[in-house]
Amino acid sequence: MNFSYSNPTQIQFGQGQIASIAQLIPKDKKVLLVYGGGSIKQNGIYNQVITALQGHAVVEFAGVKPNPIVEQLDDAVQLARKERVDFILAVGGGSVIDAVKYIAGAFYYQGEGWDILKKRVPVERALPLGAILTLPATGSESNPASVIGKASTNEKLSFISPAVLPKFAVLDPDVIKSLPERQVANGVVDAFVHVCEQYLTYPTQALVQEGYAEALLKTLLQLGKTIDQQDDAWRANLMWAANQALNGLIGTGVPQDWATHMIGHELTALYGVDHARSLAIIQPALLRNQLENKRAKLMQLGKNVFNLTETDTLAEDTIQAMEAFYLSLKVETRLTSYGQDKDTAIEAVIANLKSHGMARLGEKQAIGINHCREILAQAID
Ligand code: NZQ
Ligand code: ZN
Repeated sequence: MNFSYSNPTQIQFGQGQIASIAQLIPKDKKVLLVYGGGSIKQNGIYNQVITALQGHAVVEFAGVKPNPIVEQLDDAVQLARKERVDFILAVGGGSVIDAVKYIAGAFYYQGEGWDILKKRVPVERALPLGAILTLPATGSESNPASVIGKASTNEKLSFISPAVLPKFAVLDPDVIKSLPERQVANGVVDAFVHVCEQYLTYPTQALVQEGYAEALLKTLLQLGKTIDQQDDAWRANLMWAANQALNGLIGTGVPQDWATHMIGHELTALYGVDHARSLAIIQPALLRNQLENKRAKLMQLGKNVFNLTETDTLAEDTIQAMEAFYLSLKVETRLTSYGQDKDTAIEAVIANLKSHGMARLGEKQAIGINHCREILAQAID
């Protein structure tokens, strides 16, 4: 397929790279520094950032929640306008970086910021932003996507705009040292599923994209197997793999799926499931449901990534191996806690999917509402 590809985010990779933001943000910029619930104050990252920004005027917005919500972020938009900031620095995981993309875009939008998500008002202009990544998982640090929720309606939607691509992303693998085990596992799983969403479709003859996707999947599998032996190399490999998994490159010129993500977002919006965990719950059920559409690619994945032998059940065995991989990371593959009966839970997800225009999902638009129902019936305990 034809494509146009540009990813101008400057990557500053390696230990000690946080200091480089002193040069990367022009001295005359007034910076809005945005971060989450305070982990950066405990692990020393905040101090490194403040030291690097000594020559800059800085305003802070703290407390961005995981799975950020528009109700909170609109306060940050007001603050950015009041303080007339002209650069935003995100210090955090996907939630903080996505939040900053929203703030940067909503800054110039006269209407309600939520329109960017709900009415898909295109973001043509945004404040410049940079990211210091503290959790390798989403790839948000060098991609144009942002996922934002609305608590009052239990929604979680996304927007994409080149205007919110970070100018730079600092990837210092040492940030992983303070991550709870649960978040490291989330990172491995989210990155793994990102590659799958761009690879597990149908055979494409795109040797570069398929080969690179397989290299990333093998890397993530290897990192998952050695998650208890984290050293500098392990951390550097996860940082880079998670970034490459969703910086746009492997998805160029090939079909993409994203159905697991779309259904997963509804589980997060309704039941507060961690993003990566929502994917591990949906993906195996979805692949079994779509087995015939995805058989060829599942077999390729089984052979080239999981080293499985070619039998009549190779595609099924591959799904089994993926599920076992997630479980080995203590990431569950069934939704067990949702506070109501199973049918009500399924219908709540279905109603959300319908209202978000998700009536046909997948690379061939083969996943309709009834398929989603079947998938949820398998995925929910
Ligand atoms: O709030 P803080 O104190 O920062 O704590 C966070 C949070 O509690 C903590 N944490 C982050 N770095 C840490 C750390 N704790 C100790 N040490 C560190 N170095 O981890 C918790 C989770 O952080 P969060 O940012 O929510 O995690 P993640 O990076 O997994 O981001 C998830 C969000 O990204 C969206 C998801 O939907 C979800 O909202 N996604 C964004 C994408 C994109 N923009 O391209 C693609 C993804 O598919 C995903 O949808
Ligand atoms: Zn994801």
